[in-house]
Amino acid sequence: MKTSSILLGALLPAAAIAQIEQNETFITGLFQTLQNSGVTSLSDVLTQINSSEVGQGLLANISSGSPYLLFAPNNDALSSAPENITGDAGLLTDTIGYHIVPGNFSSSIPTYPNITIGRTLLTDPRFVRLEGGNKAQVAAWAEREDGRTHVLNQRNDSTVVDVTSFENVTVYIIDHLLIIPENFSSTIPTNNEGLTAIETILQTVQTPVFNTSTNETANVTLFQALDVDWHGFTFFAPSNGAVANASSSLESLAGNETAIQAVLYNHIINGTTLYSPLLANQNFTSTAGATLAFTINATGQYVTSANTTARILQPDVLLPNGVVHVIDSVLLNTEEDPEAASSAIASATSVATESPTETEPVGFSQTVSLDATATGGADSTDATGESSGAFVVPGRNALVGLSVSALAVLVGALVTLA
Ligand SMILES: *[C@@H]1O[C@H](CO)[C@@H](O)[C@H](O)[C@H]1NC(C)=O
Ligand SMILES: *[C@@H]1O[C@H](CO)[C@@H](O)[C@H](O)[C@H]1NC(C)=O
Ligand SMILES: *[C@@H]1O[C@H](CO)[C@@H](O)[C@H](O)[C@H]1NC(C)=O
Ligand SMILES: *[C@@H]1O[C@H](CO)[C@@H](O)[C@H](O)[C@H]1NC(C)=O
Ligand SMILES: *[C@@H]1O[C@H](CO)[C@@H](O)[C@H](O)[C@H]1NC(C)=O
Ligand SMILES: *[C@@H]1O[C@H](CO)[C@@H](O)[C@H](O)[C@H]1NC(C)=O
Ligand SMILES: *[C@@H]1O[C@H](CO)[C@@H](O)[C@H](O)[C@H]1NC(C)=O
Ligand SMILES: *[C@@H]1O[C@H](CO)[C@@H](O)[C@H](O)[C@H]1NC(C)=O
Ligand SMILES: *[C@@H]1O[C@H](CO)[C@@H](O)[C@H](O)[C@H]1NC(C)=O
Ligand SMILES: *[C@@H]1O[C@H](CO)[C@@H](O)[C@H](O)[C@H]1NC(C)=O
Ligand SMILES: *[C@@H]1O[C@H](CO)[C@@H](O)[C@H](O)[C@H]1NC(C)=O
Ligand SMILES: *[C@@H]1O[C@H](CO)[C@@H](O)[C@H](O)[C@H]1NC(C)=O
Repeated sequence: MKTSSILLGALLPAAAIAQIEQNETFITGLFQTLQNSGVTSLSDVLTQINSSEVGQGLLANISSGSPYLLFAPNNDALSSAPENITGDAGLLTDTIGYHIVPGNFSSSIPTYPNITIGRTLLTDPRFVRLEGGNKAQVAAWAEREDGRTHVLNQRNDSTVVDVTSFENVTVYIIDHLLIIPENFSSTIPTNNEGLTAIETILQTVQTPVFNTSTNETANVTLFQALDVDWHGFTFFAPSNGAVANASSSLESLAGNETAIQAVLYNHIINGTTLYSPLLANQNFTSTAGATLAFTINATGQYVTSANTTARILQPDVLLPNGVVHVIDSVLLNTEEDPEAASSAIASATSVATESPTETEPVGFSQTVSLDATATGGADSTDATGESSGAFVVPGRNALVGLSVSALAVLVGALVTLA
């Protein structure tokens, strides 16, 4: 059980490492509980993944007696699950790991936009590349206006259809298999708010990236950095509507890469993945070195940079290497403070090495009261693969390699189409 003990060691306090053996009595009881709720296929899947050490580690964890939340896909969820996941033993095991959340989450689920964030057992570096290199991926869920708990920002809306428990394991039975968060580039085409316009702008700016295998610094587009190279960031991504509204200001900056880069850097916190519960009544330093201030009130959650305040339309779009919050305005701030930026990176790097153990909602104590009935039309839809954006924009592949000067044309086109 070598792998199991490594897995446990990474996730639980040292005192728990002794309990690495699977408790067969416990697992039998858990399977029985699932079967009593009509969830029969999941037991087969759990038995199937038990053929690998990672799978054995997952079962050892959940049968340890500690509190866990298990998102249990029902039979329909498993039979309709993508074959490229169920047919790939390693990916299936990682996907099941994404359904298991250490900790006690049984207290009441907040109503959207209050969101619960829990850190799962998914640590495979193929799918998780957060700051510090040792953080597991999170899942986000909230109760919607329909009174049901939804796992947020999943390609297929995954709803909790029943709740049961076995000993300290709370079981949320869900109607769609959870999909491990995908890269930024894969997330964009299905985003309901529309992120194709900001993607285009991100493609026009270069950023230096240090390659640890060659020890050389190379420039990549900021889009490529967010898609692949940066590990741990928070990006406030203006929606297509926000970009269209800011078109005249953006046009006046087009051609000036320094200014566009500063504006984009002021939308990003580099080195820290901040989920929505952490964005309340505190400030962070942007990649450009300016202050990003956060507030929360009855109409929603807001980010302010210089004299622009944007409302978060869609929080917690999870990525393997960070998080995106979609906002309704472009933060038109060209201010730069390289000293503040590098000191923020340094402190983020030191925080990132701290123990990743989290067995309660991430940042929950910092969430302040929200009146969900007055959210003023906050987005309440998940990415479903439907494009319902207000603007028709060229497909992603058509946009790669656009120059800064082409930006003005694109922005103009967006406005025309609107
Ligand atoms: C295994 O689980 C059973 C059922 O929950 C429990 O009664 C028993 O104490 C556990 N055994 C160990 C060694 O933890
Ligand atoms: C998983 O595999 C281990 C090792 O082969 C075995 O001891 C254990 O009983 C299996 N557990 C389940 C639930 O099949
Ligand atoms: C698990 O639940 C039992 C009672 O059901 C409780 O006594 C025990 O403290 C719990 N264990 C943990 C680690 O919370
Ligand atoms: C599985 O296939 C779907 C399309 O059917 C695709 O969107 C997804 O990226 C694939 N997933 C993996 C892990 O290959
Ligand atoms: C949001 O979370 C806070 C803190 O837990 C809680 O007091 C408040 O009632 C929640 N609001 C809603 C609408 O769930
Ligand atoms: C890169 O630098 C590190 C530390 O200075 C060194 O150990 C490593 O050998 C270097 N790698 C290459 C490819 O030069
Ligand atoms: C990267 O871009 C910067 C600014 O445009 C430039 O000064 C630098 O020489 C470039 N570096 C490389 C390795 O191309
Ligand atoms: C952003 O963070 C990455 C590490 O994830 C680092 O390599 C890069 O230099 C940083 N870039 C800026 C502009 O802060
Ligand atoms: C480009 O923008 C920078 C920063 O906003 C500004 O200092 C500079 O004067 C601008 N350059 C031109 C050619 O407008
Ligand atoms: C955040 O920054 C704003 C503007 O700079 C400032 O007014 C506010 O007091 C700061 N808030 C905190 C909690 O530091
Ligand atoms: C909430 O804050 C935003 C941004 O500061 C503001 O525009 C809005 O009026 C505030 N709403 C309430 C109800 O205070
Ligand atoms: C922000 O302030 C600057 C200068 O103080 C001004 O030029 C700009 O128009 C303002 N932007 C907004 C969105 O109010």
